[in-house]
Amino acid sequence: MGRKTILLLILGILGAYYVYTPVPDNFEEPWKLMWVTTQLKTVGYLALFAELLGINHFMSTYRFFASLQDVPPTSDKNVTVMETTFDNVPVRVYIPNQKSEALRRGLFYIHGGGWALGSAAFYTYDLLSRRTANRLDAVVISTNYRLAPKYHFPNQFEDVYNSLKWFLRQDVLKKYGVDPKRIGISGDSAGGNLAAAVSQQLIDDPDVKIKLKTQSLIYPALQTLDMDLPSYRDNALFQILPKSLMVRFWSEYFTTDRSLEKAMLSNQHVPVESSHLFKFVNWSSLLPEIFKKGHFYRSPTHGTSELFKKYPGFLDVRAAPLLAEDNKLHSLPVTYVMTCEYDVLRDDGIMFVTRLRKAGVRVTHCHFENGFHGAMSIPELKIGSEIENQYLSWLNENL
Ligand SMILES: *[C@@H]1O[C@H](CO)[C@@H](O)[C@H](O)[C@H]1NC(C)=O
Ligand SMILES: *[C@@H]1O[C@H](CO)[C@@H](O)[C@H](O)[C@H]1NC(C)=O
Repeated sequence: MGRKTILLLILGILGAYYVYTPVPDNFEEPWKLMWVTTQLKTVGYLALFAELLGINHFMSTYRFFASLQDVPPTSDKNVTVMETTFDNVPVRVYIPNQKSEALRRGLFYIHGGGWALGSAAFYTYDLLSRRTANRLDAVVISTNYRLAPKYHFPNQFEDVYNSLKWFLRQDVLKKYGVDPKRIGISGDSAGGNLAAAVSQQLIDDPDVKIKLKTQSLIYPALQTLDMDLPSYRDNALFQILPKSLMVRFWSEYFTTDRSLEKAMLSNQHVPVESSHLFKFVNWSSLLPEIFKKGHFYRSPTHGTSELFKKYPGFLDVRAAPLLAEDNKLHSLPVTYVMTCEYDVLRDDGIMFVTRLRKAGVRVTHCHFENGFHGAMSIPELKIGSEIENQYLSWLNENL
């Protein structure tokens, strides 16, 4: 063998090693998934590299690559798409073209991306909004919000809340032909976090007369207290959203100071004064037996109060909706929670289902045994379109 052949062989093996990701047996299209993880991995490495060199913040590089897949607001045969602002927050509005005598249903959508990435313009979010408008004959508002690392909590929350409140004004609903009795809120991942958080805030807001009919949370992030849940243990290294990345997203939501991330990684960020909050996220009592997956509960170790004093946001109910009291949860609208087996956030969603049911809220829990975090944003995969279909059917029946 010549030198060139050997070199090619080595490159080939390294390449295969780089692309290869162990995929659970019940995944239908392993190669397609590996292709997606390879792209994400590459962007992740580039972002890390740029950060090490001091060129750019990790999230900013990541966001740059993600934004290459943004699409303009183009109307099609069925749906008129436009961009506007709701209380200074940029939103995309999707209105079905077909004439309608009756008022339409309205859906307020919040995109995911760890409070740091993504946009209503991202091609899969744009596609989802079109399909939602089309299939439900509904007006869809897909909101943007300011992102980390430049902006931290509560900016993301406040942008979404202000935009939602604007949409819920009588004159705005009238302008878009939306039935005030049939308005839902939905979001995935960090968007599911924001959807749950603003739904809770709305309950006590004296300015808002209109109530939401549904909330749909797709693999939502709901708590920052315990980073050692069975789902975090089981999926710590799952390529699409490893624990390290989720913890980075969480900590960047509150600060660019890496000490919070470090404390969260070792699960030592909650001060002893806040230990009463652990009952809200105690998986030992809140997870049904089948979801404990044979894990044993470890009481969390406490951290110093210094971090909490600097960044109190991480124990704020507006960032961690699972910290709401039962009497607050009780007033929430009909809820849909979707969780995936291969997801560090799986148990956040399941614990919320338990808590909502105890509080008397009507909840549909849909769990995908062969699903993984972010799957709905990959409609090229069968599992992605299955999840989307399931979610849209639920909305169609309940909104
Ligand atoms: C428009 O709606 C029809 C009927 O629902 C569908 O078959 C078609 O694919 C849609 N076209 C676009 C561009 O979304
Ligand atoms: C969590 O619940 C278990 C019982 O289900 C209990 O033994 C444990 O003390 C609780 N932990 C905390 C921190 O509340």
